Amino acid sequence: MSNSTVVKAGKANYMDNYSQFPIAIASGKGARLYDEDGRCYLDFTAGIAVNALGYGDEDEAKALNAVLSEGVLHTSNLYYNKRAVHVAQLLNEAAGSSQVFLCNSGAEANEAALKMVRKYGSATGRSTVISFEHSFHGRTYGAVTLTGQEKYHKGFSPMVPDVVYAQFNDLDSVKALMDGSVAGIIVEPLQGEGGIIPAAPGFLEGLRELCDKSDALLIFDEVQCGMGRTGRPFCFQHRSVKPDILTLAKALGGGLPMGATLAFERAVGIFSPGDHASTFGGNVAASALAEVVLSKLDQLASNAAKRGAQLHAGLEALSAKYPGKCGQARGLGLMQGLELKVPVRDVVSGCMEHGLLVCSAGYDVLRFVPPLVITEDDVDEALSIVDGVLSAM
Ligand SMILES: Cc1ncc(COP(=O)(O)O)c(C=O)c1O
Repeated sequence: MSNSTVVKAGKANYMDNYSQFPIAIASGKGARLYDEDGRCYLDFTAGIAVNALGYGDEDEAKALNAVLSEGVLHTSNLYYNKRAVHVAQLLNEAAGSSQVFLCNSGAEANEAALKMVRKYGSATGRSTVISFEHSFHGRTYGAVTLTGQEKYHKGFSPMVPDVVYAQFNDLDSVKALMDGSVAGIIVEPLQGEGGIIPAAPGFLEGLRELCDKSDALLIFDEVQCGMGRTGRPFCFQHRSVKPDILTLAKALGGGLPMGATLAFERAVGIFSPGDHASTFGGNVAASALAEVVLSKLDQLASNAAKRGAQLHAGLEALSAKYPGKCGQARGLGLMQGLELKVPVRDVVSGCMEHGLLVCSAGYDVLRFVPPLVITEDDVDEALSIVDGVLSAM
């Protein structure tokens, strides 16, 4: 196969809902990917913050081979399977939560969270959920309604009712919406798709206080920023604040689809049998990989903290070197963004031509979400490629 054969067949057979780059990924090792024409790329996208362990991880291969040798890839939730149960245990231990619902994606994890908030509020006749401008929570109807970006709603009205939007990092705008109808607030502790925007000091704590005062549930969506990416196992652990519900996906399944909705104290016991379900939730193969990722979570977070500091310093240096082309460098750990004053897609394409995969976030931010196993040399190489591309523009 060649890139062009695969791309041509993709264009002929897919719906036209993505704007894809004209290469097809064939294989990978460590933080490197190879396309169907044999070109090598240093990967700073990681399948959009998914492939925490990079490519060809031996422990993942062992875990999957063990599942294959047992012959059962899937059980449904009519029965227990030891791997999914272990994943729930490891998640509760790492996050400090008490109950877990396993599913297949970030959107699905947020759908579960939304239904929990609605059920919690139904006892007192409350249904409003506050979300934030520039947020992203997924593409299913509930999740896309929670997403505070008009471009994702256009053409799809009507949205799910009783969702309102406050300004991110502006507690007063939240207070203005806190009437007696609010049952919950959903927030990304570090906004991803909206442009890599960290919560300001005190913001999450302020949301916690507002929720406590009005008996509303606080959801942290860590689908992108969780699982070690920001330098702690979970992003909220940078602060002295806990959510009532935590949603995860992306890196959790080690490359297979897995999402999770975690319940802390006040949110425990909201669902009863029959309230919610997912056929593939806790799938055996996905759980086997999640066990591997979770067993390395502290190690991954610690590397993300070190390499993230190096990457951030390098991006700040680029921002200072090219003031006409770059704005602010921001992020936490290995979830970093560089604001650009030149077209982001041109920089992404330029980097690809020079063997580096990066992607965009928002309208004007170059996003860096590499595997969490990258080395010091990988970070230096990525920075030097971005430097070369910016200097040539
Ligand atoms: C913060 C956040 N929440 C939810 C989602 C949706 O996840 P998925 O695409 O797995 O449904 C994403 C995806 O980018 C995300 O970044």
